[in-house]
Amino acid sequence: MRRKLAAGNWKMNGLNATLAELSALAAEHPDTGVDLLICPPATLIAPARAALAGSPLQIGGQDCHAETSGAYTGDLSAMMLRDAGASAVILGHSERRASHRETSEEVRLKANTAQAAGLMSVVCLGESRFQREATNTLDIIGAQLSLSVPDSSTGENLVVAYEPVWAIGSGLTPTPEQIGEVHTFMRARLEHRFGPGIGRSVRLLYGGSVKAENAAEIFAIPDVDGALVGGASLKASDFSPIIEALEAA
Ligand code: PGA
Repeated sequence: MRRKLAAGNWKMNGLNATLAELSALAAEHPDTGVDLLICPPATLIAPARAALAGSPLQIGGQDCHAETSGAYTGDLSAMMLRDAGASAVILGHSERRASHRETSEEVRLKANTAQAAGLMSVVCLGESRFQREATNTLDIIGAQLSLSVPDSSTGENLVVAYEPVWAIGSGLTPTPEQIGEVHTFMRARLEHRFGPGIGRSVRLLYGGSVKAENAAEIFAIPDVDGALVGGASLKASDFSPIIEALEAA
């Protein structure tokens, strides 16, 4: 049985004052049956962890370096995130693949380092609008999945998030059939590569314009084990109904 996961990606949003949203979220879901993860900017990891003492809500980073330490001005290592109180890290988000030119090979190296540091990697992949229209989406997803996911992956240290680039922040979402097609495909690929034990235990999230209004429909799709939520994770009042939809799924 895979435990469902509602993950929030705050991106470059959030100051100390925003931690009140986290405390509200934790207070609203004290003994939820699903896993909750919020990935605030790295500056808020330690204060978030402190504010949430005793809460099962997990805190994660949004990126880490592939190396464990060294002369990389401005970067953060996986162990630094862990040391600050993170238990997970988002890797290969399409915004980083686009604006930092991250390749799937780099994402795999980062995930490898993160897993070795004891962080669960939330590896993101997804096709662009152009790729969906011009090529076979499953070929794109298959290549990203096999290149971005390290061999050391297990159901505990890997989560895969399918996030079509054109659905992120746009208000557009794929049809349930389109999401289901990709998730079924990713499950089969993971089972083929890692065997049914690990392959069936890795959680698969959908991400891209998830909100209260479409959450229940998305969570009813087979092999959707939760969501990676951007904009609607910033406010407890927006994220809570999504969590409730996941609890009910
Ligand atoms: P969105 O972002 O929910 O605002 O579309 C999702 C993401 O980028 O992870």
